[in-house]
Amino acid sequence: MAYQALYRKWRPLTFDDVVGQRHVTETIKNEVKNNAVGHAFLFCGSRGTGKTSTARIFSRAINCENPQGGNPCNKCPTCRGILDGSIMDITEIDAASNSGVDNIRSLREEAGYTAAITKYKVYIIDEVHALSAGAFNALLKLLEEPPEHVKFVLATTEAHKVMDTISSRCQRFDFKRITAEDIYDRLEYICRAEGIDAEERALRMIASAADGSMRDALSCLDPCVAATPWGPLPLAGGPWLRLWKRLSRPCGICWCCVLPAG
Ligand SMILES: Nc1ncnc2c1ncn2[C@@H]1O[C@H](COP(=O)(O)OP(=O)(O)OP(=O)(O)O)[C@@H](O)[C@H]1O
Ligand SMILES: [Mg+2]
Ligand SMILES: [Zn+2]
Repeated sequence: MAYQALYRKWRPLTFDDVVGQRHVTETIKNEVKNNAVGHAFLFCGSRGTGKTSTARIFSRAINCENPQGGNPCNKCPTCRGILDGSIMDITEIDAASNSGVDNIRSLREEAGYTAAITKYKVYIIDEVHALSAGAFNALLKLLEEPPEHVKFVLATTEAHKVMDTISSRCQRFDFKRITAEDIYDRLEYICRAEGIDAEERALRMIASAADGSMRDALSCLDPCVAATPWGPLPLAGGPWLRLWKRLSRPCGICWCCVLPAG
């Protein structure tokens, strides 16, 4: 099977898997449990903190045939269909490359049709701050009179660029930067599951260099464990890790790549 980057392989699949965002996940889980789910959400926060992952979990949770305390089961035909992409009722739109008013107009038209298989259609609009003024207005109309069977999750790293008229029609959730301690725990868990032999201080170094982003931490771990010409190198802390990273694929973001080796 083709190699899959660790950060993709380890995308959280339930609300309980999402690290460091309990203020978001517990609230949404309760809404799902009580069958009181809002029609539009705005997920704000810096990169790699779990916005897209949570939006995808949400899309399964509200459509799951056998939800587990607000979490999706990830086993029923609906969950599986959404996970493998064979159910087309969940749409992800990258607003940065579909920023025009026509994109939102066609979305509006499409949203009018009921879902083919699932109970709810879900539109996940990533980088929503990148929409043009016209597109924002078209989206506003849609959020004002949403069809019953449609839910929206808007995500952004730049909340201040989202018009107040949009955010006031959404339930807003602010994703926090993940603490180094939480990142370390997750790295350790993943290393154990992957059979990666990692020293604690090496993982702590990556966790603090990631600056609150779990994706950055996992992207940084990846080259550290890739095979080298002299065989796979166990994660050694300090100078070893720095030297090895410079010889292989520096991620360019963590301080072992930025500081001189030695
Ligand atoms: N809170 C988290 N708990 C566990 N893993 C996480 C978390 N946040 C991010 N990750 C890891 O990082 C990857 C990317 O996360 P995700 O796409 O959800 O981030 P995002 O907030 O949408 O980032 P961006 O703003 O760049 O779109 C996930 O597949 C997962 O491996
Ligand atoms: Mg995202
Ligand atoms: Zn399910």
